[in-house]
Amino acid sequence: MTIRKVAAGEDIPYDLLLLADPSRELINTYINVGEVYVMELENNIIAAYVLVRNDTTVEIKNIAVRVDYQGQGIGKLLLNDAVQRATAMGCKSICIGTGNSSIAQLYLYQRQGFEITGIRKDFFTTNYKDPIYENDILCKHMIMLERKLGEI
Ligand code: ACO
Repeated sequence: MTIRKVAAGEDIPYDLLLLADPSRELINTYINVGEVYVMELENNIIAAYVLVRNDTTVEIKNIAVRVDYQGQGIGKLLLNDAVQRATAMGCKSICIGTGNSSIAQLYLYQRQGFEITGIRKDFFTTNYKDPIYENDILCKHMIMLERKLGEI
């Protein structure tokens, strides 16, 4: 298994990125300013994440594992890889945002040392055309989490 940056001109793994973010339009806005990383297994892309740097912090804008590989520890590996890259970039912190209804994601990120720092109120109901439901909860707000680098 290797994790590498997608090269300029290479295909973007939209099928994966759309698992984490149903808006192709929003995906395009952040991949234009960020870097896409992919995990490959025997020449197949099975997971991806996107980093966008803003001064001394970097945000994981999208993180996704192919459905048939979920629940096997790959999400944790991707988060650790992002932390290592952000540290190597000289960033002081790394952040990630997820929906108020994304219970498993909130569990995973906090288990990996991210702490809740704020809420972008009504982010999903404002920016997405169709309502998003997870765990029978309407996804309205984005919960922001941050991990200070060099701490864990
Ligand atoms: N329900 C309950 N617990 C879960 C679930 C789930 N659906 N998924 C993962 N977990 C738990 C695991 O049990 C594990 O817990 P443990 O550390 O106690 O053993 C922990 O979370 C880590 O699990 P991984 O196997 O590393 O996670 P996975 O490889 O499935 O990746 C991810 C997690 C990226 C969320 C993946 O499930 C996925 O692609 N989901 C669809 C897309 C998505 O929701 N992306 C995140 C949106 S937010 C954003 O992109 C910024």
